[in-house]
Amino acid sequence: MSDSPIGQPVSRVDGRLKVTGAATYAADTRLDGLAYGYLVTSTVGKGVITGMDTAAALAAPGVLAVYTPANPLKLLPYTQNQNDENIPPLQDAQVRYHGQVIGLVVAETFEQAREAATLVAVTYAAQAPAASFSAGLPGAVSGGAPTDVLAPGAASIDDALAASPITVSATYTTAPQNHNALEPHATVATWTGDQLTIYTVTQGVLLVVSRLATTLGIDASKIHVINPYVGGGFGNKWGNWAQVPLTAAAARALGRPVKTVLTREQTFTVVGHRPASSQTVTLGATAEGTLTAIKHDGVSSKGATAYFTENTGGISLNTYACPNIHVGRKVVPLESPVTTIMRAPSEATGSFALECAIDELAVALGMDPLELRRRNNATAAPGNGKPYSSKHLDECYTVGAQRFGWSRRNPVPRAVVDGDWLVGMGTATANFSASRAQASIKVRLGADGTATVSGTGADLGTGQTTVFAILGADGLGIPVERARAEIGDSTLPRAANAGGSSSTSTNGPAVQAAVDAVKTELIRFAVQTEGSPFFGADPATVRYDRGNLVAGDRSVSFGDLLTRLSVPAVEASATSPKNGDTVHAFRSFAAHFCEVRVHRFTGEPRVARMTCVVDAGTIVNAKTARSQIVGALTMGLGQALLEDTRIEPGTGRIANADLAGYLVPVNADTPVFDVQFLDHPDTLLSPLGARGIGELGIVGAAAAIANAVYHATGRRVRDLPITLDKLL
Ligand code: MOS
Repeated sequence: MSDSPIGQPVSRVDGRLKVTGAATYAADTRLDGLAYGYLVTSTVGKGVITGMDTAAALAAPGVLAVYTPANPLKLLPYTQNQNDENIPPLQDAQVRYHGQVIGLVVAETFEQAREAATLVAVTYAAQAPAASFSAGLPGAVSGGAPTDVLAPGAASIDDALAASPITVSATYTTAPQNHNALEPHATVATWTGDQLTIYTVTQGVLLVVSRLATTLGIDASKIHVINPYVGGGFGNKWGNWAQVPLTAAAARALGRPVKTVLTREQTFTVVGHRPASSQTVTLGATAEGTLTAIKHDGVSSKGATAYFTENTGGISLNTYACPNIHVGRKVVPLESPVTTIMRAPSEATGSFALECAIDELAVALGMDPLELRRRNNATAAPGNGKPYSSKHLDECYTVGAQRFGWSRRNPVPRAVVDGDWLVGMGTATANFSASRAQASIKVRLGADGTATVSGTGADLGTGQTTVFAILGADGLGIPVERARAEIGDSTLPRAANAGGSSSTSTNGPAVQAAVDAVKTELIRFAVQTEGSPFFGADPATVRYDRGNLVAGDRSVSFGDLLTRLSVPAVEASATSPKNGDTVHAFRSFAAHFCEVRVHRFTGEPRVARMTCVVDAGTIVNAKTARSQIVGALTMGLGQALLEDTRIEPGTGRIANADLAGYLVPVNADTPVFDVQFLDHPDTLLSPLGARGIGELGIVGAAAAIANAVYHATGRRVRDLPITLDKLL
């Protein structure tokens, strides 16, 4: 229907609250009697704490407690992998990395806690940490079983490569990165008897419940987690980092609410970073450009306390049709701060290597790189042979090439000069997993004529709250302004956590199911409630139509009906099942096109234009969906040209742990991005047909930029970020 809000550019329903400062983020939580925690972190990269003199800190004004390994808050071992740390803080005197949490000071004010933290005198028996990824590469160990897909007749991937007429091989390296969400991590905990209420940054309130129940040794039913607004996550608000259990335990021990907010510097070491990677990709092809073999051996760094093991080569099992594929997984264990998931974990780094290798193959073949990609487009997942549920990547290529003007590309590198600038064009393919898990949603129809859609999702800035409102309004046939959303509260029905680009694909069908359920419930209520104009009617004769109940010539809005009957609301919940289709492969797809300009004399690379065409099924909100892709392209630009977490090899210290030394793209670095959605519903995934877009846009973005830099300059830079020194 043309008046459906689905796919329209709808402004965020919580946008005004956010830009006026009225939205209460975790750190904004104010409670009576609030005390303030401040983390103490290690200043050596490896060793044992031999002493922590807390006397001066304890004597400082306002200090309530100083917790250390010698005076810990008791925490039980973690049992769930949440891609955070595998041990709780303060439970022993070991220092496993530089910047590890070794204490928590609690005081009457934040300033008092911070001041006292500087007074804690720590002595260590320190050793030099093994913190250099490049030095550790020769000693890389298994990070999981390799995967081999081999055609009949190929004894090994090397066999298949040896039989390939054309081969290219190169090693690509990527720098560690930090997420740097605008909102730093923060936790506020308060106890009423044995009941814990906690306001904490998270990509899913249910994740906090499970972790705290385990480590505090209490029943999950005693924990209430609230986090309606999140200022960016990108993966490092999935896990529960040291401040979460420490703040909860400190509040319990002190009998007072406690708030702990991390400093920007602490968000570099306490809450994880994207691993460094080194990937060797060898491609085999026929002279006509048909891929015959892909060998993708990835090695990634792994921090001392990390659960997460990156699999950079996995992207090669999902991108191009190829009869022989090998994916190798290794890690370099480092005595470094913790490595964790970050936006498109594995794919963001893996696609850089694969998509640059494809570009190098195109050069070796003398073929247009877009044509090479088209020629190897896969209709079934190369890793397992399952046909894709819905794939229109070829259309992404066609539409993108047209919008971008790819046909104007001069095939010769370093051929286009505009004043002092070398101009180049590059392309890359993107794909990311699509999934639908089980989710429950409640819809409440109010006597004020509004509908409220609720579930435990998280809105990291993605617009998930607005998706709830849009889908509720669409199903109920009411304006979006009359639909509200409740999100980020563990007492709500169990919906999807925000991760793996699956919030809308999972929660969306549940909203639709709950809308259907509440319509049925409204009719039941109308025919069974005395005083209702429909009282006693056969429910089959009453229908719901755009906010009204209709039977014969009677039509009453649900708001009027409830008001007349003095009932505040009717509500219903529904659960939508997880995707049960095991026959198909589900992925989202995109094609990137990029123009860069590299200064001839300074080597400065600039992204001049970028087009991204996305095939992700139904787009629920054109405005916030575009923002997701623009954000991901911006992050890809950062990965390509700027972002580089500098872990000092000798000390394991992150040397640029602030936003002055760690460069993220700002407006002056970014062009206006051209984003186009194809909008082909994926009806095999769900009736809604929406896949995911949160992570897709960063996949391949850095490769498209790097390929454009090659085309502009004739220089193949295989090490991210591509800083100007590498182009001189
Ligand atoms: Mo995201 S890295 O799926 O939390």
